[in-house]
Amino acid sequence: MTTKDEDLETFGDTILVTGGAGYIGSHTCKALAEAGYKPVVLDNFSNSNSWAVRWGPLEEGDIGDKGFLDGVMQRHQPKAVIHFAGLIEVGESVKHPARYYQNNVSGTISLLSAMERHGVDKIIFSSSAAVYGTPELPAPLDEECSKSPVNPYGQTKLMAEKIIADFGESYGLGYVLLRYFNAAGADPAGELGESHDPESHLIPRLLEAAHGSGAGATINGDDYDTPDGSCVRDYIHVSDLAAAHVLALGKLENGLKNGIYNLGYGRGYSVKEVLQAVCRVTGVEVKATIAPRRAGDPPSLVADPSKVITELGWSPKHDTLDEIVSTAWSWFSRQSQ
Ligand code: UFG
Repeated sequence: MTTKDEDLETFGDTILVTGGAGYIGSHTCKALAEAGYKPVVLDNFSNSNSWAVRWGPLEEGDIGDKGFLDGVMQRHQPKAVIHFAGLIEVGESVKHPARYYQNNVSGTISLLSAMERHGVDKIIFSSSAAVYGTPELPAPLDEECSKSPVNPYGQTKLMAEKIIADFGESYGLGYVLLRYFNAAGADPAGELGESHDPESHLIPRLLEAAHGSGAGATINGDDYDTPDGSCVRDYIHVSDLAAAHVLALGKLENGLKNGIYNLGYGRGYSVKEVLQAVCRVTGVEVKATIAPRRAGDPPSLVADPSKVITELGWSPKHDTLDEIVSTAWSWFSRQSQ
């Protein structure tokens, strides 16, 4: 992680990280600690792991709990909040929308209100490419593209974005909204990785298949209007994603009022290409069966990352598919020993 001189004065600040025990949250805590910040993890462990809390204190509880939030704010007096806590499964959101609106929208209002009560005036929000819905063209998406989510998960992310922007307008809250494309890979030093239960994401599922565990590899539809018929995604290494949070924080602490940024590499890989990379990296000839399309899947989602590169100075360090897959495979292999 490189830092700029102007950011040095912020070193040592306490940053409250909701969902800091989760996949992206824990990698971001590591990046924060390496940059000299003090991450405090707030997590209810609904889809995360206590072993991932390694870079600062833990506050176990829920962002919907007002009394708990007041206690956390009083005890730690954070300079800023990075807000990951939320539910993330597209399919589940279609089955149980109430859970998603409760956790992701009401939870965010509860958190923002606590920040307002305690004078915490900066937030970085973990948003998603799901806000774009199904793009009309396969071209890379910039931040101005139309937003029309196709599932409750994406709706909750877009609503939370709008609520945060309203807090910015009315109360002067400084904010950065980061729209992630497909987070993947694992900490190159092997200290952290992805661990969801159940696992629905492509790369860990293919690695399970390579390992001989899990349900076997499936390709969810090969009749899309894409070069090889399978869905195309912009896979971004989780450590590059984490680094963007630290850059955004530095900018907010040095006067940025607000910003919205897509986070991806600007190039997509199909499910079949990811499968080939998994075979290459693991040395296992993974056979996949073709399954029906998965509900709510856009054919292609690729970011235009020009804005985050220009405005935040983001410079990805792990942007090859093979590095993404090989760091994930190292992590997976160690966990399965
Ligand atoms: N897929 C398969 N087989 C599998 C698992 C997934 O073919 O066993 C396919 C999916 O159908 C999809 C692609 O692989 O076409 C990627 O699927 P993931 O589940 O890995 O990721 P998603 O694109 O569905 O979703 C992820 C995050 C969301 C975020 C979205 C934005 O989980 O939170 O990226 O691009 F909104």
